[in-house]
Amino acid sequence: MLSKVITIAQQKGGTGKTTLAVHLALAFVKYHNLKVVIIDTDPQGSLGKWFMVRSKKNSLNKNLTFKTASLWGAQYESKTFKKDHDIIIIDTPPKIESDARPSIEAADLVLIPMTPSHVDFWATEAIIEIAKKAQKKVLVQINRANQRSKLINKTHEYINSIKVSATNIIIGNRQIYPSSMGEGKTAVEKQKKSKAVEEIKKLSEQILLELK
Ligand SMILES: Nc1ncnc2c1ncn2[C@@H]1O[C@H](COP(=O)(O)OP(=O)(O)OP(=O)(O)O)[C@@H](O)[C@H]1O
Ligand SMILES: [Mg+2]
Repeated sequence: MLSKVITIAQQKGGTGKTTLAVHLALAFVKYHNLKVVIIDTDPQGSLGKWFMVRSKKNSLNKNLTFKTASLWGAQYESKTFKKDHDIIIIDTPPKIESDARPSIEAADLVLIPMTPSHVDFWATEAIIEIAKKAQKKVLVQINRANQRSKLINKTHEYINSIKVSATNIIIGNRQIYPSSMGEGKTAVEKQKKSKAVEEIKKLSEQILLELK
């Protein structure tokens, strides 16, 4: 058992926390044969709705467990799941600051999705501060990027300026992410070979290396 916890957090809403949570989960199951839990701590429950749609469609949930918890409860739940699971992914709600602490404390890695936009930059610092204070490994994930946008360079400049690391994968703005999730699935189940599949697979590989 790897027994590692990844907390996905970001103050700003809609940066791709939930999208990343499910895509990484399925990538760990599919490409690395790992036993994965996703813990939803968001009262909006979008992850729960995704899982319900998924269950209705009889999708394969081998090695995939879903659980809801409060931000505090996630710390306890993740400790318990660590005993017999490889990866525990905690999806958190937006607009959290001090509330985020227990989920950050539970993490081996804090993953922070950020779209290439100054509005996202400004919203990110609080969570990075909390993660740094807790001495956690932090990785920013650039999401929903238009690959030709000049803002990608600006995003890297910003990431360097706040002395944090980013993964070297840039996730593009692709329809397959929302469309697959609407069916209770993920891009890695809907497509065999595509840019989305490639970037998610690479991201799962890089994250596993970071967790070792
Ligand atoms: N790479 C992407 N390409 C296209 N659409 C995306 C991508 N990532 C996320 N989205 C879409 O952006 C919206 C917000 O994504 P998501 O719900 O994952 O963000 P979130 O950070 O979990 O939001 P919240 O803060 O409300 O929980 C959704 O409609 C999602 O389908
Ligand atoms: Mg979400």
